[in-house]
Amino acid sequence: MASTPMILAEGLQKSFGSVTALAGIDVRVESGTVLAVLGRNGAGKTTFVRIVSTLLAPDSGIVRIAGVDAVRDAATVRSVIGLAGQFAAVDEMLTGRENLKLVGRLYGLNKQEARARADEVLERLGLTDAASRLVKTYSGGMRRRLDLGASLTGRPPVLLLDEPSTGLDPRSRAELWSLIEDLVGDGSTLLLTTQYLEEADRLADRVAVVERGKIIAEGTPHELKRRIGGDVLEVRPARPGDLERLARLLRGLGPGEPLADVRAQRVTLPAPERVPTLLAAARRIEEAEIPVADLGVRGPSLDDVFLTLTGTKPLRAVSEPEMRATA
Ligand SMILES: Nc1ncnc2c1ncn2[C@@H]1O[C@H](COP(=O)(O)OP(=O)(O)O)[C@@H](O)[C@H]1O
Ligand SMILES: [Mg+2]
Repeated sequence: MASTPMILAEGLQKSFGSVTALAGIDVRVESGTVLAVLGRNGAGKTTFVRIVSTLLAPDSGIVRIAGVDAVRDAATVRSVIGLAGQFAAVDEMLTGRENLKLVGRLYGLNKQEARARADEVLERLGLTDAASRLVKTYSGGMRRRLDLGASLTGRPPVLLLDEPSTGLDPRSRAELWSLIEDLVGDGSTLLLTTQYLEEADRLADRVAVVERGKIIAEGTPHELKRRIGGDVLEVRPARPGDLERLARLLRGLGPGEPLADVRAQRVTLPAPERVPTLLAAARRIEEAEIPVADLGVRGPSLDDVFLTLTGTKPLRAVSEPEMRATA
């Protein structure tokens, strides 16, 4: 018999008026594993997390956390989950330590316990030096870490993180990723949502790709990459004006058509044979005397997967500046 999954959702549906946010979501997260729900703005990620965390009731379908029904027994479910949202929910006018002490008190710890737990969490977050400062003086990355810390205060076995790194600069994001990896190493079960392919790839055991309230693909990052059929040749021109020329030059080298991505300034081409394709490409480029900044064969990225699955433009790359939609 299969063990009880830590998070189980079946047939989840939710509409807001005429807007269908979730159109039937099935998810199963085993204890001690990480599921990334990957999707663009408006795909339904937050709605899903709010339902799993008992903040919102589904129109239909079931959610069970460690076997407990999230609709009928919300109080029990709340006692085993920690939630950190897309927008940090900490109080600006309190210090970092005061924020965490407050959360500890909400979990029923006494004053000394709450203080000890707050200091323990602050240490883990690397915020000990800033513990006595008002949160309004914190950077975005520090706030996000503190918010994550608040979700850890009750030592929940199940963590739900809704876009934990959206809006962070690359360095803060890398720090947050290490922190999350630490937590998962301790055996927590984690469901996180993200718009970042690299985040899913790096942190998740399994990835569910969500589009318009539906899961359009599910599997390990490796499986998803395999679905688009192997390795990819990638060339970056040294001069932006050469992009289209490069794409034309590489025609006929592989089984598929070269794809010129203007925004990323690169041409990609399926290259299942790897080395022969790479050498042939190098020869053609040299003969045509087009200066290139980079040429290589790589495994497919989740970006490629998304393009294949939806036929629309890829999600933005992780290194691009954040552009938050006004919701
Ligand atoms: N409270 C709400 N009222 C009306 N529409 C909503 C509400 N919450 C979400 N939606 C809509 O549901 C869809 C999914 O939203 P959301 O779950 O926030 O997506 P994501 O988190 O992936 O960006 C969107 O079209 C959004 O506009
Ligand atoms: Mg959201």
